[in-house]
Amino acid sequence: MTTCIKKEILLKAENINLSYDDKIILRDINFCIKDIVRMDVKQGQVVSLIGRSGIGKTQLFKILSGLQKPTSGTVKLHNNQTVKAGDMGVIFQNYYLFEWRTVYYSLLLAAKQNDVLKGKEKETIEQYAADFNLKDELKKYPQQLSGGQRQRASIIQQLLKGSDFLLLDEPFSGLDVCMLDKVTNLLLQVSTSDELKTLIIVSHDIITSVAISDTVLILGSENGKPGATIKKEIDLIERDLAWKKDIKQEKAFIETVEEIKDCL
Ligand SMILES: Nc1ncnc2c1ncn2[C@@H]1O[C@H](COP(=O)(O)OP(=O)(O)OP(=O)(O)O)[C@@H](O)[C@H]1O
Ligand SMILES: [Mg+2]
Repeated sequence: MTTCIKKEILLKAENINLSYDDKIILRDINFCIKDIVRMDVKQGQVVSLIGRSGIGKTQLFKILSGLQKPTSGTVKLHNNQTVKAGDMGVIFQNYYLFEWRTVYYSLLLAAKQNDVLKGKEKETIEQYAADFNLKDELKKYPQQLSGGQRQRASIIQQLLKGSDFLLLDEPFSGLDVCMLDKVTNLLLQVSTSDELKTLIIVSHDIITSVAISDTVLILGSENGKPGATIKKEIDLIERDLAWKKDIKQEKAFIETVEEIKDCL
C-alpha cells in the first residue's frame, strides 16, 4: 500500500442542514477533508461527491463554496474561518463565463487574481489554451463557443485563479473521449501541483471520478428519513486504489464502483 499520512483538517462540514419551506433537502452532513502527506510527492486531495440526480449535490456544492448559506451548520477551512464566497474556485454545471467579454479577457482577469502568475499571465493563458484546444477561441465571446469549449474555458479560468480549493460540478459531462482524457489528466496534474490543492468533484460519471480520487463521499437518503446525508465515505487509499494508473481494470476498483452503485 502507498504510504501516506493524513494531517491537519483543510475543510470541515459540520451539521449541515438545508430546507426550502418545510422540504428538507440536506440533513446532518458531517465530513472533513484532511491534508494528505506523501513521501516525495506534492500530493493534493481529490474527493468525489456522488449521488443520484436531484439528491442535493449542487446544493451541497454551493454551500461548500460559500455561495449559499445552509439552514444550519457551518463549513470551516483550515484556519478555522467559515468559508465565504470567493474562497474557492468554482466550476458550475452550466459553465458561467462573462458573456460580454472575450474568453481571453475573462481569463486575463482570473490570472490577475493570482500573484504567482504576475508578469506571465499572457503566456500561461496561451499555454492552457493550447493544452485544451482553445487557441482559436481566445478572441471569441462565450456565446460563440460550443458547450464543451465553454466548459474547458471555465476550468482554465478557475485554474488561473490559483485557489487551494477547486470545486467542479459535473466536469466530465459533454466531453468527447479525447477531451475526457485531457481533462482527467489535467485535474490529476493540478492535484499534484501543490500539497494543499483540494479538488471536490461532483459527478454522475462514477468510474472517471473515482479513478482520480482518494476519497468518495456518497450522498443519499436513508430509510425513512427525509433529505440527503453522507451515507458512506470510502477511503480509496486504504483500499490501495488511489494514485494508480490503469486502475479501472482492477478487480478491487470494479467492486468499489459496484458498491457505490448499490449505495445510491
Ligand atoms: N431554490 C430552490 N427551492 C426549492 N427547492 C430547490 C431549490 N433549489 C433546488 N431545490 C431542490 O433541491 C433538490 C436538490 O437539487 P440539486 O440541484 O442539488 O440536485 P443534484 O443532486 O445536483 O441533481 P443533478 O445531478 O440533476 O444535477 C431538488 O429536489 C431541487 O428541486
Ligand atoms: Mg447538480
